[in-house]
Amino acid sequence: MTEEIEVADGFFVKRRKIVFGTAASMAFARLFMMPAAAQGTMSYDQFLKAANPLAKSLIGDTSTAGQDEYLHSIAALAARVDAVPDPVAWNDSTQSFTPGTEIGFTPGGESFTVLHWRMAPNTEIRLHRHDYGNVVTLGLGGEARVRNFEVVSENKDYVPGNIIKVRKTVDQQLTAGNINLVSLDRNNIHGFIAGPDGAHGLDITTRLKPRPEYGTPYLGVRTDAEDDIRQIYEAEWQT
Ligand SMILES: [Fe+2]
Repeated sequence: MTEEIEVADGFFVKRRKIVFGTAASMAFARLFMMPAAAQGTMSYDQFLKAANPLAKSLIGDTSTAGQDEYLHSIAALAARVDAVPDPVAWNDSTQSFTPGTEIGFTPGGESFTVLHWRMAPNTEIRLHRHDYGNVVTLGLGGEARVRNFEVVSENKDYVPGNIIKVRKTVDQQLTAGNINLVSLDRNNIHGFIAGPDGAHGLDITTRLKPRPEYGTPYLGVRTDAEDDIRQIYEAEWQT
């Protein structure tokens, strides 16, 4: 048995009605809360009205599976946004060796932060590891190659100059409407290389831990895989 509830103006989700146990009910209701397929796109305000309470209901479970559920749920809503307001200001991303990569903040997220990014043609945002928050990236225009890696060395500490082994888990062309996910436990190193027309998109970031003293570590990865089948590369922590 399902019911349709309005989670934002004009945006409905179908939810299965559960008739037993409160904790189980809530878990199942969340599980079956699916955007109605025929509803199409939503405005940015509708996204916030739906995503803010959803994020609050899911953020507490920081297990690997809990983060997966959180990221996939927010991503399912983000992918429906038809237009995003411009940020108040653009600032250099500080994550590039050259100028031309910028980020801007748009208010409205309560437990998450909405950051726009834009990249001039052929610029690069360096590979960096997310150690204290997860990310839903949504492509809005242009195209960018996005690569994700995970450290497979036993010692995962950030020590500049240390040589480590990493696995490439994702190598994707991010175009408008595409999603890339970073959790603390999966795909948590990512970097962007803009195509010849540049690229822009959103990062919906959610802090789950205090920011470590070292901030956001950068990684340099060798060009050739050490193990091509497993996509294992030698890499070096950088400042
Ligand atoms: Fe990032």
